[in-house]
This record gives sequence, structure tokens and C-alpha cells, in this order.
Amino acid sequence: MIKPHGGRLVNKEVSGDKRENILEYLKEMPLLMLSRRDLTELENIGVGLYSPLEGFMNEEEYNGVVEEMRLSNGTVWPLPIVLGVSKNKAAELKIGSKIALASQAGKVYGILKLEDKFIPDKEKEAQYVYRTRDRNHPGVAALDRRGEVLLGGELILVNRLTDLPFTSYRHDPIDVRREFRKRGWKQVAAFQTRNPIHRAHEYLQKCALEITDGLFLSPLVGETKSSDIPAKYRIKSYEVVIDKIYPSSRVYLTVFPVAMRYAGPREAVFHALCRKNYGCSHFIVGRDHAGVGNYYGTYDAQLIFDEFAEEEIGITPLKFEYSFYCTKCQGMATAKTCPHDKSYQISLSGTRVRELLRQGERPPVEITRPEVVDVLIEAMIQQEEN
Ligand code: ADX
Repeated sequence: MIKPHGGRLVNKEVSGDKRENILEYLKEMPLLMLSRRDLTELENIGVGLYSPLEGFMNEEEYNGVVEEMRLSNGTVWPLPIVLGVSKNKAAELKIGSKIALASQAGKVYGILKLEDKFIPDKEKEAQYVYRTRDRNHPGVAALDRRGEVLLGGELILVNRLTDLPFTSYRHDPIDVRREFRKRGWKQVAAFQTRNPIHRAHEYLQKCALEITDGLFLSPLVGETKSSDIPAKYRIKSYEVVIDKIYPSSRVYLTVFPVAMRYAGPREAVFHALCRKNYGCSHFIVGRDHAGVGNYYGTYDAQLIFDEFAEEEIGITPLKFEYSFYCTKCQGMATAKTCPHDKSYQISLSGTRVRELLRQGERPPVEITRPEVVDVLIEAMIQQEEN
């Protein structure tokens, strides 16, 4: 099986006596309350989803990642993984001390060994990471909401988040790797998504499944922008297709507990590296992966992989062109496989599909499976009511 990024699956979770000892000293530590998003990042680092990261980035790592997409030892890493706090809060915390990281309710989840405090240049980060400083970009807008000072240092995970939805689809990288081994899957294709499944997705996934042993469906369930369909309906759409139109034994669904950045190309590399940590050998990258609006070129998220040597990334990107239903081909295709005129193509944007659904109309079967449409109509009714 493919090795985790950096060679070793990080595990910062403590248990048994070690954990008990640490818990005893908690009362002496300053308490820092984190948002749900930051707590999730803590957990993701702790369970090795972001291997080889062992904590929130210090200034040197942050700068290397922003400017060169590399950690200080040269390993490829495209997105900052950081903890932002206010200037006042940062001033209270001493470098070299241990800080208890807690929820807003005061429950402690982890400990940060504070190595570094620094003020990043957000304008520069926006330009390098998102390729724009436009505040209408949801990723850039999120930067503005982040605390001004970044705290860097190694982490320890003492408690796991509970009361989360989709429990049966939450699996740590180590568990996913074990499951792949159990199923005898050597080559696994991963699919990232923040949308309900439609026919183009299905086409990409089934093409990938033709050349691999298994398909790892990895719908993102972290924060998304408000116009995206809520995760619970997206997951339902997957349950429906796994049940009815996929060979269920060749598919494994695990939610991806990470917030969307909408960073297009850089996020595609990040998405790929995280799936490598789960043990996947291939990663599907279609058109405008992790894009939003018109900030990125249609295939920028594929081209970025060419900036690195294959072994630096490790997981193989499976690059797909824009796919559509062609009435002449009588099936899904791309420009690579279909010789017919565009007028034979049936394609609708996600926005148009949502409009149709909102008006109570069903998008054509060539766009979305009827079983999935039922789930989406329910989602629309729910959204209208809220
Ligand atoms: S994403 O933000 O998670 O990338 P989405 O869920 O829409 O958004 O896409 C999941 C994956 O499918 C991405 O790799 C994307 O590029 C790809 N994709 C979506 N629709 C198409 C399409 N019509 N043709 C080719 N690739 C597509």
C-alpha cells in the first residue's frame, strides 16, 4: 500500500497512563477556546490526516508553504494549516508553555506546545494561495475572519470530538488503511466532492473504478459556503447510489472532515495528499476542482501537479476533462471520446439544477439520477422552510 505523505502516519493521540498524567496537569495550563473548525483541524492533525504535519505551522513552515508549497524539509505541502487568535489573546500566551485547547464549552481536546507566535501577511497569503485578493472569494473572506496572530507548535490530542453527524462514515486514516487491506484493495481511487452526486461524477468514478480495485468516496463535510447543498443531503445522495447503482463491495464511503477553502489548484494538491494518507493510490481531478466563480482556469487544478516530480506527490492524479451526456453517443463522454457537435450535449450548471429543483422541476435523467433527484427535492424543500 502507498506510504503516507512524508513516509509515516502521524499519531498525536495519547491514551492510557500517558493521557491520565497529562490530564492531571491540565489545570495548570492556560485555556484557549477554539472554534469548531479549529478543533477539527486539531483532530485532523492528531489522527494523521495531514501527515507529516504534527502541529500548527510555525512562521518558517508557514512562509515556505505560502511561497513555495513546501515544508522546511522540502516536502510538498500546498496550504497553511494554522491557528489564528486575537492580538490580546496571543499576548497572554508564553512561548515555550503548554496550552490547553478547548471547545467554547470549556472541554479540553488537545494541548499545544507553543513554539511560535507571528503575524502573517494576509494579503500575500491571499495572492499566493488563492491567486486573488478579492474579498468576494470565500477562501479570502475566511482569511479575514481568522485571528491576526498565528500560534505554531506541536500538538497532542487528548479527547476526540463527539456529537458529530455521520458517525458510521467517520474513519481515521489508520482505519481506512486497515479496511483497504482487509478488502485486498491495492489500487484505490479517491473522489473528493462537495456536491450531491450527478452523472458526470458517476462517470469519472466508474472510469476510475475500471482501472483500480476500489473507489474511495470522500465527500467533504467541513464548512462550505452557504449556497452549497448541506452535507446531510449530499451524503443521502451517496447512500442512494451505493445502494442502487454501484457495486457496493467495490466502494468505501468515508466523510472528509475538512473545511472547503475554494483554493482551486492548491486545494487539489492538498485534497490529493490527504487521500494518500488514507491509503489511496489515485486521486480524481476533473474540471475546476475546488474552484469557485471564475478565479481559476478550467484545468489549473490539473496543471499544478506538473509543477512537482511524481514521487514528490506520490498519489497519482487521474485527470478528467469536462464530461457531459451526448445524445448521439447515448452516454457520458468527454471531448476526448465524443466526436459530435456540442448541440448534442446535455449539460446544466449546478446553479441551474438548483433553480429547477426549487421550482419543483426534475432535472433530466442524463444530468441527475431520478433516485438522487428525490433526495435533492427534499433538500430544497427543507432549505426553503429554514
Ligand atoms: S469540488 O469543489 O469538490 O471539486 P465537485 O463536488 O463539484 O466540487 O467536484 C468533485 C470532482 O468532480 C472534482 O474533481 C471536479 O473537478 C469533478 N467534476 C465535477 N463535475 C465535472 C464534470 N462535469 N466534468 C469533469 N469533472 C467534473
